[in-house]
Amino acid sequence: MTADELIERIDAASAEFTGAIAPLVDEQAIRATQAQFLGKKGRLSALMRDLAALPPPERPRVGEAMNRVKQAIETDWHTFEALAIPKDPPARDMQDTFYVSDEIVLRPHTSPVQIRTMQAHQPPIRIIAPGQVYRRDDDPTHSPMFTQIEGLAVDVDIKFSDLKGTLEHYVRRFFGKSLAIRFRPSYFPFVEPGAEVDMQCSFCGGSGCRICKHTGWVEIGGAGIVDPEVFAHCKIDPEKYSGFAFGMGLERMAMLRHGVNDIKFYYEGDLRFLEQF
Ligand code: FA5
Repeated sequence: MTADELIERIDAASAEFTGAIAPLVDEQAIRATQAQFLGKKGRLSALMRDLAALPPPERPRVGEAMNRVKQAIETDWHTFEALAIPKDPPARDMQDTFYVSDEIVLRPHTSPVQIRTMQAHQPPIRIIAPGQVYRRDDDPTHSPMFTQIEGLAVDVDIKFSDLKGTLEHYVRRFFGKSLAIRFRPSYFPFVEPGAEVDMQCSFCGGSGCRICKHTGWVEIGGAGIVDPEVFAHCKIDPEKYSGFAFGMGLERMAMLRHGVNDIKFYYEGDLRFLEQF
């Protein structure tokens, strides 16, 4: 085989690979297609052997064509990564979200767990889902990586008052005393109505202090009533069921409980900090 023929075959295999992998969404199918083209017994390895048989001066040209294909493969590797890290709706706007590529983000909140749960299960649903999330934030109360706790309840006749009662109960158990909860209207794509949830400051009891920036209130999370449109996407009957959801910042709650004034202490591993617990 001549160098030109080999380059033609490499380009043809490359086009075929791109076409074969593009419509795939299943991880196993993607891996199988990658192996078929790029594995030890794959098409590219076979062409590699033909490359070795060419006279040495012809080889660099063909090697270049091989590298072009390998780099395009890298792109498909990222497409595969995108499946492992689903593309979640950003919690806020684009500035908050880490974009690995146009298609791949590090999830900025745990709310997509709601969707996966509702796609897999019919009501009644009650979940608590903790998870790592990432945002382009960095100050004493905001970390680029932090933990959220997602809550979701779906059943017949779930009301906003159930959400309020659940959060009040949680605050009472976690802080060991009854603290008032208030809702500030806010927009989240999954809920209608949506709200930011504030809690009466556990340090000053609401009179105003350094921790609550002298407002008497501290924000603990976002919450709301599940939007019927979300139910429709998940094949849950919005006429029959209703639900509430919330998302809390775990470190933020621990900071409030223990009077920690910088979120970084949780990640530095400093024994002087850790030994206090
Ligand atoms: C959300 O992330 C929504 N997904 C919450 C939600 C869930 C709404 C279900 C409706 C239904 P928000 O962006 O406000 O909302 O973040 C929730 C909480 O995470 C904040 O109140 C705060 O406690 C915490 N948080 C946000 N950013 C950071 C950060 N960079 N570091 C530490 N904690 C953070």
